[in-house]
Amino acid sequence: MTQLLHEPNDASALIADWRNAKLKSCVVPTMGSIHDGHLALIARAREMADRVIVSIYVNPTQFAVGDDFERYPRGIDADMARIGGLADAVYAPDNLYHPAHATQIIPAGAAIGLESEFRPQFFAGVATILLKLFNQMPTDFAVFGEKDFQQLAVIRQLVRDLDVPIEILDHPTVREADGLALSSRNLYLDAAHRAIAPTLHKTLSITAKRICDGEPVTMMLAEAQTQLLRAGFSNVDYLRLLNPDTLQPTEDISPDSRLLVAAHLANVRLIDNIALGQN
Ligand code: PAF
Repeated sequence: MTQLLHEPNDASALIADWRNAKLKSCVVPTMGSIHDGHLALIARAREMADRVIVSIYVNPTQFAVGDDFERYPRGIDADMARIGGLADAVYAPDNLYHPAHATQIIPAGAAIGLESEFRPQFFAGVATILLKLFNQMPTDFAVFGEKDFQQLAVIRQLVRDLDVPIEILDHPTVREADGLALSSRNLYLDAAHRAIAPTLHKTLSITAKRICDGEPVTMMLAEAQTQLLRAGFSNVDYLRLLNPDTLQPTEDISPDSRLLVAAHLANVRLIDNIALGQN
């Protein structure tokens, strides 16, 4: 059975109990609206640790004014049912910010560019809440999906730079049968736009293949962008080929070079990425 905890002290006490019992533990930080992508992260956590705790917290500081904080899907009963005993505990605090909260982690490096060009507050919000969660729950491991590729790089940088004693694990993006990367925000898509959404992954795959076949990178990126707009995306925030470690633009046709995209479909912003070798 999965225990449901709401208080930071209870979460900390549980991790301490596990540690005292010499059990390895892993946290799966989420904002809830649990889907199969999260269940895959829980399964990855299970492979590595004796005990798994899922945190569910829609973190206000990573949303800008006008973002979808208010409408972000929430429902602890449905989330507990989806988790269905796969985790040992769920930590769902009500509010993690003291009324006088005044401290922010401002990541640079991997956080510069891409997402932060369009969501300048995002990585400060993510880094700050994760440091708080890691301090409350000093587990051995934390696991994150590759779908948020830049976020994963920022988190690795955070624990490295601030000596957080936790090992970051990753997991490949989980997709629907038609290729759409699983995301809680897919729930916002109406039927017509849901039918268009897989074009994002399809376009990445075709572009990766053509780049691997030797076609010019700049031209391929421009063509991919045109394809997305033609398919019905209203705007492409970025579509770039990057070095997976530095997140700097590259023309290196290595299987690890990564195509990253963020694009708007109706009022939904979708992100995705693939390695060139995954086409
Ligand atoms: O990826 C997410 O769901 C969130 O950004 C995270 C890592 C749980 C921080 O709020």
